[in-house]
Amino acid sequence: MPIIGSLNGVSTGGWVEYAQKMEEAGADALELNLYYLPIDPSVTSTDVESGYTALVGDIRTQVSIPLAVKLSPFFTALPNVANRLAEAGANGLVLFNRFYQPELDLETLEVVPNLALSNSDELRLPLRWIAILHGRVDADLALSSGVHTAEDALKAVMAGANIATLTSALLSSGIGRVTQILADMQEWMEEHEYESVSQMRGSMSQQSVAEPAAFERANYIKVLSSFDPNAMAARDR
Ligand SMILES: Cc1cc2nc3c(=O)[nH]c(=O)nc-3n(C[C@H](O)[C@H](O)[C@H](O)COP(=O)(O)O)c2cc1C
Repeated sequence: MPIIGSLNGVSTGGWVEYAQKMEEAGADALELNLYYLPIDPSVTSTDVESGYTALVGDIRTQVSIPLAVKLSPFFTALPNVANRLAEAGANGLVLFNRFYQPELDLETLEVVPNLALSNSDELRLPLRWIAILHGRVDADLALSSGVHTAEDALKAVMAGANIATLTSALLSSGIGRVTQILADMQEWMEEHEYESVSQMRGSMSQQSVAEPAAFERANYIKVLSSFDPNAMAARDR
């Protein structure tokens, strides 16, 4: 099984040094977990994005194993960032990191950490962006956030993901969940007469679907019209 080292650095020198160390230690690939929270109002989005691409470029010149970049969903123009990272040397993009926002305790007046695991509803954000980026960026795509079932993983592949990753599902259900998901995927593919995962990959990406606007803002009114309060009440009962 390939081993992918996950790296989250602070200084440029630290990122490069540890990337080299991971390669020397035998990692088959590296995942760079880029996460800089710009608090200073004078720092622009261009500063942040250029910093990310420069960093990926620096690491690319120092290591030869494949590099994946794990991104946050908070970019104004994600396709542009994705392309610039690929040009800088990223072989894969992981969409998305899931941030744990701090919680306020009203009794103790403290800012407290609060880990809540994901659920399948959170799949939609990365699903949309994988579907949009598939065929538009020269990098493999991994979907991270909200994969809990075989259906979730199938959707990831159909949107165009090369990989679907699981964390919350494994923490809540144990490592055996992987076996179940793979078996369920296989059963679904047999029932629907798919012969391979690659046959499915990207078949529901934005460039493949009959209505590409469904992935864009134009879909807003349709989404609102699809709301059925009776169905929601029935589900809550
Ligand atoms: C307990 C825990 C620890 C995590 N540690 C890391 C980490 O060290 N680096 C990282 O890139 N992501 C980390 N993540 C984020 C996961 O890799 C993943 O992107 C996120 O949980 C969304 O996927 P999920 O919906 O399958 O949980 C962590 C998540 C959890 C729940």
